[in-house]
Amino acid sequence: MQVLETITSAFRGTFGETPTLIQSPGRVNLIGEHTDYNEGFVLPAAIDKAIYLAVGPRNDQKLHFVSADLNSTYQGSLTDIRRSGKGWANYLLGVIDQIQKEMSLPGGLNVVFGGTIPIGSGLSSSAALENGVAVALNHLYKLGMERVPMALLSQRAENQFVGVQCGIMDQFASMMGQEGQVIKLDCRSLEYAYAPLAMDGFRIVLCDSRVKHSLASTEYNTRREECEAGVAIVRASVGDQVRSLRDVTMDMLNRYVRDQEPLLYKRCAYVVLENQRLLNGVADLEAGNIEAFGQRMYESHEGLSKWYEVSCPELDILEDIARAHPGVLGARMMGGGFGGCTINLVREDALADFEAVVQREYLERTGQETLLHECRIEAGTHVV
Ligand code: GLA
Repeated sequence: MQVLETITSAFRGTFGETPTLIQSPGRVNLIGEHTDYNEGFVLPAAIDKAIYLAVGPRNDQKLHFVSADLNSTYQGSLTDIRRSGKGWANYLLGVIDQIQKEMSLPGGLNVVFGGTIPIGSGLSSSAALENGVAVALNHLYKLGMERVPMALLSQRAENQFVGVQCGIMDQFASMMGQEGQVIKLDCRSLEYAYAPLAMDGFRIVLCDSRVKHSLASTEYNTRREECEAGVAIVRASVGDQVRSLRDVTMDMLNRYVRDQEPLLYKRCAYVVLENQRLLNGVADLEAGNIEAFGQRMYESHEGLSKWYEVSCPELDILEDIARAHPGVLGARMMGGGFGGCTINLVREDALADFEAVVQREYLERTGQETLLHECRIEAGTHVV
């Protein structure tokens, strides 16, 4: 693979040694969006687009990172971890910072990394990079960390060091993925189960809107606050057993929130219904009813667009084109929103036509080109 050769030879050229190679995937999420930070359920999977890291230990305290794709270098020290002006370096530094809160590292780290995850398209390249560093250090220095704690550590790096208040879905999916399986994750208990996604006759296609609205991070945090505000209203009436939207029913929302706070009602109702959709969708998959599952994806998009209001015109257009195509089983925006990709389940025999139609209509309706990615479900972060 091209990227492995590139990073291996760059590592040899820079450090004069043969590296250990780590593959750390991006993720898709079939259904269950904006539910993770509300202690709900998600249904993600790791994919065949990944960040690849060539790594090696050091016998001093130094850190030397190279982003092969950006052609950019960071040099620092374990003893002086500070946020860097080079945004990409913070994902690596954040993980090292978290590890050092728990244990002392015996030496520094050399890294050259590159990848096949399109950056900024909502496929969680940042979670992949964080996990890659955690697994690298765990492997090189035999730190004895388990996989779920490493995913949580990556999330804390993102929350505390990078400063994005994301939930656990992305880091968990990238770390814990298994080939051909989706992960049903309970984001409250972190209990999880794998379910095979029998892809007979259909494919997962991602349509990249290629827009990234600046609203994304501020609105993400606003949604979290709106959900918390809704929970606080319900809790005031029902009692302290209501800790998050996981404990809230539509009946409670109708009684205590709908008339008083119509905006909060829309936000919270979306989340409560999305959790229900996911549970019903898992039952559809178990019954082999992929058509029914696909319908729930359309409903999820509708909720995200009209009730949770995290879509954008471009994503709505991609979903609209997909919905009108007879070869598509289901489609919706994926991830945080305000840009990035839609996820589409497309019948194999309709693949070529679907791709041609999306490309043509998206260009006609937005003046922009879309990028299409077919993806397979692969294993989580691992040493190659
Ligand atoms: C982003 C966050 C995730 C999750 C999704 C929305 O990808 O990183 O934690 O909240 O948005 O489902």
